[in-house]
Amino acid sequence: MTAASAPGKVILFGEHAVVSGAPALGTAIDLRARVSVEDLPGKTEIDIQGLGLRLSGFSIDSDGRVVSLGSSEESVAAARYVSAVVRALGVRDVRISVSSDIPVASGLGSSAAIVVATLAALSRHMGIDMDVRRIAAEAHRIEKMVQRGLGSPMDTALAAYGGYVLLSDGIAQVDLPPLDLVVGCTSVPHDTRAEVARVQELKSRYPEIVDPIFKAIGVISRKAVPCIKNMELEELGTLMNINHGLLEAIGVGTRELSELVYAARGAGSALGAKLTGAGGGGCMIALPREGTSQKTITAISQARGRAFVVRTGCDGVTVE
Ligand code: PMV
Repeated sequence: MTAASAPGKVILFGEHAVVSGAPALGTAIDLRARVSVEDLPGKTEIDIQGLGLRLSGFSIDSDGRVVSLGSSEESVAAARYVSAVVRALGVRDVRISVSSDIPVASGLGSSAAIVVATLAALSRHMGIDMDVRRIAAEAHRIEKMVQRGLGSPMDTALAAYGGYVLLSDGIAQVDLPPLDLVVGCTSVPHDTRAEVARVQELKSRYPEIVDPIFKAIGVISRKAVPCIKNMELEELGTLMNINHGLLEAIGVGTRELSELVYAARGAGSALGAKLTGAGGGGCMIALPREGTSQKTITAISQARGRAFVVRTGCDGVTVE
C-alpha cells in the first residue's frame, strides 16, 4: 500500500485580481486530503470515505461507472477528479481510497489537494517518476480540465509545494513564518467559475474603475510579504481589511460573509478579516490578536459561521 497526503489552502491576498495578472499570495493550511493505493487485480475502484466532515462512501470504476453508491454530490465530484488522474496516468488494477478533512466547495483547495495526493500516491505505487514540480504542473492541468475553467495554478501549487506561494508572472515560493488564522465558513457554497465570470464582465464594462482596483490589490499582495516576514501583524490586519473592501467593491462580498467579517473584527477583536477565495459564499479569514483565537471563533460562531483555527505555511505533498 502507498499513501500520500496534501494540504488545503487559503488565499491571503489577491483573489480575482490574479486572474488579470496582479500578484496573489496564498498559503497551505493544516487540513489535508489523504489518498491510499493498493493492488486490486482485475478491477479499478475509487472509494471516497469522508469529505469535509461529511461521511459518504461509494466507488466508481475507471470508466466512470458507479460501482456502489453511498451519498453526496461532494463525493461524486471528488471521484471525478480521482478518475481524471487515473486516466491521465493510464493506471488499472488498484483500489484508491480518499479521505479529507478539508471542507468542500468553500475555497479551501479541497479538489487540488485530492488531485495532488492522488497523483503522488499513484505515481509512487506504479513506479512512475514524478517530482513535486511535475506533480504541481500535472495537477493544475487535470484540475483545469475537470473544472473546464480558467483556474489559476494557486491551489495545486500550494497542495504540492506547501508553505507560501506568490503568484504573479510565475509561481514563486516565499519563505515566511507560520500564522494562526481563524477561518469562518458561511453555509453558502461558492461557485468560483460564476464569480470569476461576473468580475471579468464588470472589468470589461468599467475597465477604468476595475483596473485600478486590481492594481491596488496587487500592491497589497506584495506589501503583505515583508509584513508576514517581520510579523507586523497590526499592519497585516489593515491590509486584510483594505483587501476585503476592494473585493466588496467588485461585487463578490455577500451579507453572510460580511457578517462574519464584522463579527470577527468587532466582538472577535481580530486585527483584520476578509473573505478568501472567489467569494459569493464560501469562507472568510480573520487574523486574531495573540492568544485570542477562541474569542474570534466565538464571535464568528455567534454570527452563524462555522469557525476553526488553521495554521499557515504547512508542508506540501508527502508520500508515506
Ligand atoms: O474560490 P477559490 O478559493 O478556488 O479561489 C478562486 C480565486 C480566484 O482568484 C477568484 C480565481 C483563480 O483562479 O485564481
